[in-house]
Amino acid sequence: MWKTAIEDAVTKTRSNIARFNDQFPHVSNNDVYELNDNTDWTDGFWSGMLWLCYEYSKDELFLRAARKATESFRERLAAKRVLDHHDIGFLYSLSAKAQWMVEKDEAARQLTLAAADHLMTRWREKSQLLQAWGPEGDPDNGGRIIIDCLMNLPLLYWAYEQTGDRKYYDTAVIHADKSRRFLVRGDDSSYHTFYFNQENGDALRGGTHQGYQDGSTWTRGQAWGIYGFALSHHYTKNPLYLETSLRMARYFLDHLPEDDVVYWDFDAPVNAETKRDSSASAITACGLLELLKQLPADHPDRSWLEDGARRSMKGLIQHYATIGKPDAQGLIERGSYSVRTDLAPDDYTIWGDYYYLEALMRLERGHKGYWYE
Ligand code: GLY
Repeated sequence: MWKTAIEDAVTKTRSNIARFNDQFPHVSNNDVYELNDNTDWTDGFWSGMLWLCYEYSKDELFLRAARKATESFRERLAAKRVLDHHDIGFLYSLSAKAQWMVEKDEAARQLTLAAADHLMTRWREKSQLLQAWGPEGDPDNGGRIIIDCLMNLPLLYWAYEQTGDRKYYDTAVIHADKSRRFLVRGDDSSYHTFYFNQENGDALRGGTHQGYQDGSTWTRGQAWGIYGFALSHHYTKNPLYLETSLRMARYFLDHLPEDDVVYWDFDAPVNAETKRDSSASAITACGLLELLKQLPADHPDRSWLEDGARRSMKGLIQHYATIGKPDAQGLIERGSYSVRTDLAPDDYTIWGDYYYLEALMRLERGHKGYWYE
């Protein structure tokens, strides 16, 4: 089942290379991917898919396209084009870092380190956090963190491994600790974002950006937390991160609907119109598989993690994948970008496609993505 799904993904990605013509897909509109010139936070996912497809197929078409994408990211960093946000890890882990990991290309390693330095510019000394969005001092977002940022921390941990400079590691750990303390609630659900006083770091309140309500649990946020804390555990071996990832994973799986693919928010009322977020299930599958890589063979949590990962991926393949639709541009249907603002509420998302393929590569090939070496 995994192999058939990968073959389908590789075929579609090959067609998309010609279709996208060096542009980057983001989300779809009427089943057609919206393209940009490497200006969005999502552009690394396309590049990551190219590297995964190359590693699977060894087809040089993918290699050429992936290298070209890294060059585009080099130019983007030099021009500082739309990089005034925290998502530098998503962008550069799956482009320059992936190239370094696959080809041991020194220029790609240097570019990844430069990207880590850029991410460090989001650090706010007074409030001791990585600011998600907006300029320093921004009245709304100046002291705001978001759970998605946990997936950007691997870039900093990696930069520490490469350079021995503690500043990267310490920044990532302080931010992960703060995320654990304030974004994850006592019942293992999560806030999407949290506000702090910019001047003194005092904790103010949780709030959402893309979820149903300020106190609800946006499913993709929960997914970023599961995978993000698992990756922080990989790099630090701090058992608290492992425990947090496991608790969040259990919450996610305990709230699965009948077809094993989540709705967009765990607290959104469910009726025939309720949107899904297939991307949240794909991200979570990767997170669960990463946890399985880290746990010893006799760990008591292995069986439910394995069951959860397989159920999520089978649910996606059986009900949401575009296998059997050769002209489809995307790999999984019914992702949602921002239901509350009606932005791609029921569409392909390039990150959904990326994590779906990463999970398949983990299952079929024992691949581990490009988050750590
Ligand atoms: N990181 C933004 C999102 O997940 O939509």
